[in-house]
Amino acid sequence: MKTVISRLMPSFGLALAVGVAGSLTLGGCDSVRVPPPWGEGTGTPLTEYAEPIGGPSSEGPLAVLRSAVQPIPDLVVANTDKVRLGRRLFHDPVLSGDNTISCASCHSLDHGGADARRSSLGIHNQVGPINSPTVLNARFQFVQFWDGRATDLRDQAGGPMTNALEMGNTWDGVLAALGRTPPYRELFQSVYPDGVTQANVRDAIATYEETLVTPSRFDRWLKGADSALTADERAGAELFVTTGCVTCHQGVALGGTSFQRLGAVGDYFAFRGTPLTEADNGRYNVTHNEADRHFFKVPTLRNVELTGPYFHDGSRETLEDAVRVMARFQLGRPLEDAQVSHLVAFLKSLTGEIPAEARLPPGELPPPAAPNPANPATLGAPGVVGPGAPTGIRPAAPALPRPAAPAAPRPAA
Ligand code: HEC
Ligand code: HEC
Repeated sequence: MKTVISRLMPSFGLALAVGVAGSLTLGGCDSVRVPPPWGEGTGTPLTEYAEPIGGPSSEGPLAVLRSAVQPIPDLVVANTDKVRLGRRLFHDPVLSGDNTISCASCHSLDHGGADARRSSLGIHNQVGPINSPTVLNARFQFVQFWDGRATDLRDQAGGPMTNALEMGNTWDGVLAALGRTPPYRELFQSVYPDGVTQANVRDAIATYEETLVTPSRFDRWLKGADSALTADERAGAELFVTTGCVTCHQGVALGGTSFQRLGAVGDYFAFRGTPLTEADNGRYNVTHNEADRHFFKVPTLRNVELTGPYFHDGSRETLEDAVRVMARFQLGRPLEDAQVSHLVAFLKSLTGEIPAEARLPPGELPPPAAPNPANPATLGAPGVVGPGAPTGIRPAAPALPRPAAPAAPRPAA
């Protein structure tokens, strides 16, 4: 069923047509797409638009927000064994070419599902080209990666292991390592009749990632509890609509529903002042269509308080800075200090709770071992995980929500 809601926002002459599209493949929840007034790039899935309904004055900005953003639906876990297997894989450096890097190295649950670095460090301390986005609530996005080159989490989960700059492995290497590392063979067989296969590795990891959803006070507010947000946060929520942020940041994840040009109303890259990189091309790298240059998937704003530094280039350290850049280059609307602080207060209300079961239980993976990349004999050693592991990855942000689980020995093979 498709419903289409439109609202007219007279204050800025901004026609805000909100198309509520069909359900997402994974979430079973609705995604919402709002076309920005300046048009969209090619490759952007357009939704149906309807004539505006209701009078402009009939509903205020907060009502608009409540229709453009949906609460995180209740988590339903169909197969907990599969989720646990995926959780283990996600945290296990055995997937990488030299047993040093896990998915969690660059997507730490202690850093909002992202990485504290501007660009992640991969195997052999290689610096990647782009900032690591959060895996939290990634299921609510219409595509994965800044440039949308993966269609969904299963598609995405195959990429990092064989990326030479990230985990530096091959599929043969991954499957062989899992085949000889207890208890993976048994764990796979208990949930997949065909055991350890590439498709099953992807599926287990994606199934785990689907549980990484983070309801927050904002969801209670969306469901009608007005007092779940403070007055400052509500003021920020209003600004989020009236300045136009919601035209791009909407849907369950407040993002992840469209590609948009970075620098919609000004030259962001000239302002940044550093040479253009290939990563700066964004969606163009996938479509090779000139109109897509500098278009990026609009990122989720859930947990954005924790996921700095910001933007695909990791160029902004603080949320205040990121908000100012957005107002100036996406909307052409410089903000006063008080407005920035209200918007930031609102964005912080999007910090949610990671389900307790998402964290790897203490002792499930082996203790840190120091692999020596110069000595291939050490490369088959048990893996390393968590803060303190010699991965070259900055372990965690200063404000840690929780300490990492202490490592314990892997049971003898
Ligand atoms: C070396 C660091 C690193 C490792 C290891 C890593 N990632 Fe990533 N991940 C990134 C970066 C950087 C991006 C963004 C790349 C891009 O968009 O071009 C990303 C993107 C993603 C995305 C897309 C999120 C979005 O909003 O588009 C998901 C999901 C993800 N990674 C999951 C994983 C999983 C699962 C693993 C392990 C199999 C993994 N990552 C391993 C750095 C890493
Ligand atoms: C025209 C569409 C558009 C509008 C309007 C817009 N944004 Fe964005 N926003 C984006 C895109 C695209 C990115 C990713 C840019 C990049 O990193 O290349 C982004 C990134 C961000 C980020 C950084 C997230 C991260 O994980 O790095 C924040 C914070 C943000 N926006 C907040 C806002 C706020 C607050 C407003 C309103 C003042 C706003 N945005 C208006 C499209 C938009």
